[in-house]
Amino acid sequence: MHFDLVIRGGTVVNAHETRSADVGIAGGRIVAVAPGLPAVAAGGRDIDARDHLVMPGGIDSHCHIEQVSSFGILCADDFHSATVSAAFGGTTTVVPFCAQHRDDHIPEVLADYHQRAAEKAVIDYGFHLIVANPDAQTLATDLPAAIDSGVRSFKIFMTYDRMRLHDEQILDVLATARRHGALTLVHAENHGIISWLAGRMVGQGNVAPRYHAVCHTRSSEAEAIQRVIALAEVVDTPILIVHVSTVEGVAAIRAARARGVKVYGETCPQYLFLTAEDIDRGLEGAMFCCSPPPRDAAAQQACWDGLKDGTLAVYSSDHAPYRYDATGKLPKGEKTTFKEMANGVPGLELRLPLLFTYGVGAGRISLNEFVQLTATRHAEIYGLAPQKGSITVGADADIAIWDPNHRVTVDAALLHDNTGYTPYTGRELTGWPVQVLSRGELLIDQTAQPGVIHAARGRGRFIARQRTDALQPADRQIPEMAQLQAWQTPLVI
Ligand code: URP
Ligand code: ZN
Ligand code: ZN
Repeated sequence: MHFDLVIRGGTVVNAHETRSADVGIAGGRIVAVAPGLPAVAAGGRDIDARDHLVMPGGIDSHCHIEQVSSFGILCADDFHSATVSAAFGGTTTVVPFCAQHRDDHIPEVLADYHQRAAEKAVIDYGFHLIVANPDAQTLATDLPAAIDSGVRSFKIFMTYDRMRLHDEQILDVLATARRHGALTLVHAENHGIISWLAGRMVGQGNVAPRYHAVCHTRSSEAEAIQRVIALAEVVDTPILIVHVSTVEGVAAIRAARARGVKVYGETCPQYLFLTAEDIDRGLEGAMFCCSPPPRDAAAQQACWDGLKDGTLAVYSSDHAPYRYDATGKLPKGEKTTFKEMANGVPGLELRLPLLFTYGVGAGRISLNEFVQLTATRHAEIYGLAPQKGSITVGADADIAIWDPNHRVTVDAALLHDNTGYTPYTGRELTGWPVQVLSRGELLIDQTAQPGVIHAARGRGRFIARQRTDALQPADRQIPEMAQLQAWQTPLVI
């Protein structure tokens, strides 16, 4: 067998198996996984992975790149800086958003994001589509065309003035998703609670970032999750609740799953490793403000429990990079109120090292669970498998080789995104991706050339995503729909 490259002597970790094996790569794909693979052909190379873990490159299925936010602010990373940063953190595929704003025409939105990503991305990527205006043309023509082109997931918002949909609009999007085989991602927070409280807070002069966490109550997340689950049950179509942050939110998803509803959950580093106390540091708390906000130790534990029992299927960054200046967090300088600053925290690069340290290193999750949560489940749910998300014959050779003992003290200067800060400054992390391959190309070798990436701008490819089992309806009816069926009264959803 011909190999361009063999990764030798490492411990290969997949979602359900760990074994000592070499990994043979040819033409950008994995062609053999077995011990004692023969020598590479002339011109090929070996990578010595003894004492290292050979894991699928991470897939980050929730990140905002070169996107205008719900606040109308362009985020700090473009497709180059974000994908370079992702690669340094061991992530080899990203699925960011193409964002429709109210007056935007979806085909133009998609073409614009495709062009910018194709010019700059250094790793492979898919897209989700944010739907802010589900009018008749969007529902009948534009969303089905987007799905056909491999953009097989939408994100909808239940809050933010510029983005939010009301319940009937959400039902319209869910019905379209069901008809054409797409997954709907939901930002679930009750708009009324947040905006009513925020109006009073600001009116009474309480404008510091810490009040952001007060206004985004736990109940606002819990209510919205329960409501959108009820909507999805009417239509019987799968949904995924992004950035789950509360005890109550995890419980609502767990309860729905227990009665057979197809609802997936996601959590992010900020809900495992930060709390609302991090925001309580004057104006600088803005660097820790995201929606929903970090909560408390009980919520962190609920998120860990949710990851362990599958209630939360995936762990993503929700990388939403805004600089601590007038371009991002502080549009009105020191006078900026918490209602005016961009929401979001950076996380593409540290997502995996944080989970490795506090998850695997602390004994909370196994290596296999680490791979499931950071790569394999993303590939399965979002239609990237079998091309991405596992070290198996036939898959793309997207691989991160980890030194489990490599220690790093986090400092923004070490990172490669454009945010200029990280909420995790000073954390001592153990375990780091020291070599990163994308389609068999060694992009990063931290031992030979620390801090260097060998990746031409635009080498990343768009991945048109497939329909998956995760997108099939649960085949489960609410009693009223079952009654209609008993009466043989058709209802076209
Ligand atoms: O605060 C956050 N999460 N900002 C990014 C946009 C979103 O809602 O995901
Ligand atoms: Zn969101
Ligand atoms: Zn987000």
